[in-house]
Amino acid sequence: MEYGGKAKLPGKEAYMPHAVVTGAAGFIGSHVTQRLLRAGYSVTMIDNLSNGRQENIDTILQRAPKDAVCTFHLCDLAAQQTDTLASVITGADCVFHLAALADIVPSINDPLTYHRSNVEGTVRLLEAVRTAGGVRKIIYAASSSCYGLANTYPTPETAPIQPQYPYALTKRVAEEYVFHWSQVYDIPAVSLRFFNVYGPRARTGGTYGAVFGVFLAQKLAGQPLTIVGDGTQTRDFVFVTDVAEACLLAAESEVSGAVFNVGAGDPQSVNRLCELIGGPTTNIPKRPGEPNCTWADITKIKRELGWKPVVSFEEGVAIMMANAVAWKAAPVWTPDSIAKATKDWFTYLDKTPAKQHA
Ligand SMILES: NC(=O)c1ccc[n+]([C@@H]2O[C@H](COP(=O)([O-])OP(=O)(O)OC[C@H]3O[C@@H](n4cnc5c(N)ncnc54)[C@H](O)[C@@H]3O)[C@@H](O)[C@H]2O)c1
Repeated sequence: MEYGGKAKLPGKEAYMPHAVVTGAAGFIGSHVTQRLLRAGYSVTMIDNLSNGRQENIDTILQRAPKDAVCTFHLCDLAAQQTDTLASVITGADCVFHLAALADIVPSINDPLTYHRSNVEGTVRLLEAVRTAGGVRKIIYAASSSCYGLANTYPTPETAPIQPQYPYALTKRVAEEYVFHWSQVYDIPAVSLRFFNVYGPRARTGGTYGAVFGVFLAQKLAGQPLTIVGDGTQTRDFVFVTDVAEACLLAAESEVSGAVFNVGAGDPQSVNRLCELIGGPTTNIPKRPGEPNCTWADITKIKRELGWKPVVSFEEGVAIMMANAVAWKAAPVWTPDSIAKATKDWFTYLDKTPAKQHA
């Protein structure tokens, strides 16, 4: 395998499109990178490895097609000079921007760090894209968390924007920046609002977060699965390879200036997830600011990009279970440790009158 730059496939006339993927060492970014390499793109991966893993980069390189061209740049987007970052981007046809701090809980404790990575990092990337020139499309990884406690189900892209916590706000503000740069500087852009993405390589360590990782580590340790509330709440779980496909389709379409929901459009309850994983369960307090349901209206992406999810929830959970060993060394959350980790959540997000006047 070659390391570096843009190239044509040896012995082939065809032009090899070039992509930059930020956040490539992370969960979704690593799958997007693999999908692009399979589609014949050369890829420059960018990540600061704050939450991403070198192991994911190694897997991408090991599994890349024989003629693939793939490079990795270790860099913090929020700390880069425009010219330095522009030199990494120069020659790219598409930029897939997935780098972000992506957990809810730490964003409540430390909003400034989230602003720096997710908003400032995005603006610096956009300036570098403008300076580099020639980028045909930016694909921005937005979040369905912008809908907050939605009042329409399934939720369309036109639903009111009402972020409930700093992570959601930073993702939304950065989406605005992407479209502003697109409009002012004529850089075509598409924003994909991901719902609850799951799949292999979802993060196993760090802070209390995505339900799959929490449950799989508990299952392996023989501990009860901690169901928030009564478990009847539903989530639009979408499998990561379907999300990677949506990114590719968005890049290759003629569409620009558009937002698309990326979800399965088939919400599943937390109780159903527990049933599929199996084992004992315990209930912990419901949290303020968390919706009872997330449910993507995917009419628009189906119609305009021809995308549809292909991995069923049952298939996806089976794949997760087959890969559960990845969670062997992950923290095993208990009701007590979750209560400690989410203390600020309850302190800041509970807006009930009794709490406010306490
Ligand atoms: N996982 C989901 O369900 C979900 C849902 C909605 C949106 N998203 C968005 O999708 C994207 C990818 O999420 P993920 O779940 O793969 O998270 P992840 O943490 O696995 O990946 C994010 C990557 O970005 C890197 N990164 C963070 N700040 C950076 C910076 N300043 N400079 C360079 N690299 C930086 C991290 O090291 C990490 O590898 C994020 O933008 C996230 O907001 C994810």
